[in-house]
Amino acid sequence: MLRFNIFNMIHKALRGMLYNTAQSIQQTWFGDKADAELVFEKIHEVVAAFENHGHHEDHILMPYVEKYDPVRIASFESEHVEDLYMGNHLKHLINIYRDAATDQERMIAGSAITRAFQDYMIFNLKHMQREEIELNELLWEVYTDEQLLDINAGIIASIPADEMAQTAGKMMMSINKNEALNWLSSVKKTAPAFVYNPLLELTETHLPEHYREEIRAALLEEENLSPVF
Ligand SMILES: [Fe+2]
Repeated sequence: MLRFNIFNMIHKALRGMLYNTAQSIQQTWFGDKADAELVFEKIHEVVAAFENHGHHEDHILMPYVEKYDPVRIASFESEHVEDLYMGNHLKHLINIYRDAATDQERMIAGSAITRAFQDYMIFNLKHMQREEIELNELLWEVYTDEQLLDINAGIIASIPADEMAQTAGKMMMSINKNEALNWLSSVKKTAPAFVYNPLLELTETHLPEHYREEIRAALLEEENLSPVF
C-alpha cells in the first residue's frame, strides 16, 4: 500500500533549491563580483531553508518518534548539527571571497565555494534520502496515515507566514502535476480564502510551464463546480 510520505513536498522543494543553485554556481565566473553576488544570494537562501527545516524536524517531528528508536533519532539530530556547520562554512567562504583583493584571489575563493557547495549538496541529498527511507519506516510502523496527516498539519501551522510563503513557491516549482492539483484542491477545501488565493496566484508564476495551464484550468473547473459563499 502506498503510504503518506510526510517529507515529500518539502524535500522536493529543498532538492529543487540545491539543484538550481548548483547549476547557477556552474554558470558563475567568480572573477565578476556582481555575478558572484547573485549566486551568493541563492546559497544563503538554501542554507537558511535547511536551517529552518532541520529545526522544525528536531522540535516538532522527532518528539513523535524519539521514544521508539532513540539511537537512530539521535543520529538524525547529529546530522542536523553537521548541516549547520557545513552551512556556516559556506557563509565563511563567501566572506573570504568578499575580502579578496584581486581577480585571482576571487577565482580561488570561488573554487573553494564550489567544492564546499557540492559537499553540502551531497550531504543533504543523502540525509534526506535516509529520512525518507529510515524515518518513514518508523513513522509508518507506529502511526496511521490519518495521524501523519495531523502531525503534518501541526508542523505547517507552526511555520511563520513569511517562511511558509517562500516555501510554497519553492514547492510549487518542484512538484508534479498530480501533487500540485491535490495540494491546491485540499487547501481550497480546508483553509480560508486568504490562504488559498496567494497559492492560486503562485500557480501563474511558479508551476512548471508544461502543465501550468492544465492545472489552472482544472482548478477553475473545480471552482465552477463548488461556488464559494
Ligand atoms: Fe532532516
